[in-house]
Amino acid sequence: MRKTLLSAVAGAFMLASCNAPQPERVSALMQFEDEITEIINQMTLEEKVEMLHGKNMFSSAGVERLGIADLEYADGPFGIREEMEAHSWAPLNWTTDSATFFPTGSALAATWSKELAYEYGKGMAKEARLRGKDMILGPAMNIQRIPTGGRTYEYLSEDPVLSGILAVGYTLGAQENEAAVCLKHFAVNSQENYRGFVNAQVSPRALREIYLAPFERAVKEADAYGVMAAYNKVNGYWCSENYELENKILRQEWGFKGIVISDWGGTHSTVGAVTAGLNVEMPGKSYLGEALLDSVKAGVVSDSVINERVRELLRVRKVIKPVPHDVANTVMTSQPEQQQIAYQVAKHSVVLLKNEGGLLPIDLNKTKKIAVIGGNAIQTQALGGVGAGVKALYEITPLQGLMNRIGDKAEITFAQGYKNYGREEKRNQISAYGEPDEALLAEAVQLAKESDIVIFVAGNNREIETEGSDRTTIDLPMGQDKIAAALAEANKNLVTVVVTGAPADLQTIQKVSPSILVSWFNGTEGGNALADILVGNVSPSGKLPFTFPVKLEDSPAYALGVYPQELKDENGDVFVNLVNRQRIDRSKIKLNADYSEDILVGYRWFDTKKVAVMYPFGHGLSYTTFDYSNLSAKAVKDGIQVTLTVANTGKCDADEVVQVYASRPDSKIQRPVKELKGFERISLKAGESKQVNILLARNDFRHWNETTNAWDIETGAVKLMVGSSSQDIRLTQDTSLK
Ligand code: BGC
Repeated sequence: MRKTLLSAVAGAFMLASCNAPQPERVSALMQFEDEITEIINQMTLEEKVEMLHGKNMFSSAGVERLGIADLEYADGPFGIREEMEAHSWAPLNWTTDSATFFPTGSALAATWSKELAYEYGKGMAKEARLRGKDMILGPAMNIQRIPTGGRTYEYLSEDPVLSGILAVGYTLGAQENEAAVCLKHFAVNSQENYRGFVNAQVSPRALREIYLAPFERAVKEADAYGVMAAYNKVNGYWCSENYELENKILRQEWGFKGIVISDWGGTHSTVGAVTAGLNVEMPGKSYLGEALLDSVKAGVVSDSVINERVRELLRVRKVIKPVPHDVANTVMTSQPEQQQIAYQVAKHSVVLLKNEGGLLPIDLNKTKKIAVIGGNAIQTQALGGVGAGVKALYEITPLQGLMNRIGDKAEITFAQGYKNYGREEKRNQISAYGEPDEALLAEAVQLAKESDIVIFVAGNNREIETEGSDRTTIDLPMGQDKIAAALAEANKNLVTVVVTGAPADLQTIQKVSPSILVSWFNGTEGGNALADILVGNVSPSGKLPFTFPVKLEDSPAYALGVYPQELKDENGDVFVNLVNRQRIDRSKIKLNADYSEDILVGYRWFDTKKVAVMYPFGHGLSYTTFDYSNLSAKAVKDGIQVTLTVANTGKCDADEVVQVYASRPDSKIQRPVKELKGFERISLKAGESKQVNILLARNDFRHWNETTNAWDIETGAVKLMVGSSSQDIRLTQDTSLK
């Protein structure tokens, strides 16, 4: 039933996203226009302006006199944040605000499942409503441009199609369950360093095809009700006062009818912001409070601009009904249904990178003693670093998950191996990249020698991958490479689990560990999901949503020398005060981030420039084998209909993610060697085969023409490549686009 509704809704919006002529898409936000006009007519200027800025840290005002409730916002993208004081980040320490910790963005993306993204959005909405919230501050969906990006774990993918399709699922899931989304961060917030003032210089084509495309999908195909303006500038203008981005592209071109709110503290002007299209300054009122009132009275901002911004807010308020105060917060936020969703997402997200000699799954009939090694085996990941985390009701760690699933079928022993990097170390500016602790290492090696198999839980944590700053390296922290090498000497049956939300340098692990998995910051049920995969209750089916480069310097922005940027003041001196954490006057700083790789982001770069990678985009192994056959690609009126057969030729039931890439042999413009155009997750019992149908819409083949400043579609030859990853292409077919 749910699936039917999802595809029906998605289908309706999809139609409208193709090139003209198409039926007009009508946003659900447009149902109450007359009523809203009446409300606006009754409002004083003061009441209107009161709506356009934060009331509390996470709410903006309604109009009590007219029975219009405040709008309540819920951070963040992967779990409903705990309650805080009205005007500070200090927690209120409630006993009912513990939420479900959902797997973070890149984990969701590794499922390559729009259905699971829908469930995820639905789960977030259910818990938001239990807490009386109207708008979820998510999905976070900037393109993962650099492997070191601090919020890579929050974002979805390096690819705009995968990001966009998942954001559509999340949005439909949330909004069909009564909570609005707020797509963030609009736009090009693809680095955390200097995010408060950096100017992203992006070509119109890369902007449209790569950075804006996922947002466009979520607006056009899922009718997203909210958007958060990013901290940074794009092509010279702050995102929160960027007329081109907000009023022109988002509203006029894409037909967005909802609200744009600023990122927290990311507003920089009054007249510029409100006329460019910003509805709400969050969380304070430095610009859209008194100053706005004065600007209207002085005639610098017209009444019609104010009315328009208020109308957009009222639309959201009308469609998203407030939760009555006596209904909200009556039960614990985290509920079993949502914990189940978190489990399902986690289970489908774990990526098996390598499995030499079939070391996995662990054969519990032959294995007596399992050594679990590594601080991350006992580390929770719901909170940490700067920025939104989740006060999780519970979180199953990898060690706990293994104990739950293995019980007394084998003996599990634990050694720390390394001490995890924590808040204290960070505060004292101790590097996370030191040598291993000799005593912990010796203990771990001894344990490895005595065991049948070693599960080394390596990777990052939320102090290392964090909002507000990018990493300086993708090396594994805390001496983990050396620990892995020593463990491998002690026991050849070494399984390495990399807990990470972003790419890591696996050059050493790759050499010493016959089996490697990526298990993400995987939410409340992460440990159980991981254990299910390790012992073979479930075959792994996650696929990488980004490339693991061999080394950091291979990745595009590093290879071109445009990241990291050197911060200089107007006189050309290098700023040292940022490092020393001194206050700086942002308005004086001019810092460009040149997006010189243009459209060649992620695998588009590696493939086109023929740079070898460690693990390609879309990669992920299974405990079974899949056979691909009978590919046909027919040009149809609306695009290309791809059909193929996939058979599970192994001995266990499993999911596979079928990926369709395309290249354009006769193109007149620069193109990547291949680009993802569509995908489908399928479940196959052992021995079963299924026909897979994927329709590639004509519109999916468009490119941004920088001469005409409009979308174009090149008709003609298309080479389709269908496979199990971007570099494991099983079938190809030449076809054409009408
Ligand atoms: C983040 C947003 C977040 C907001 C409120 C900002 O620092 O960039 O993503 O929603 O804080 O917590």
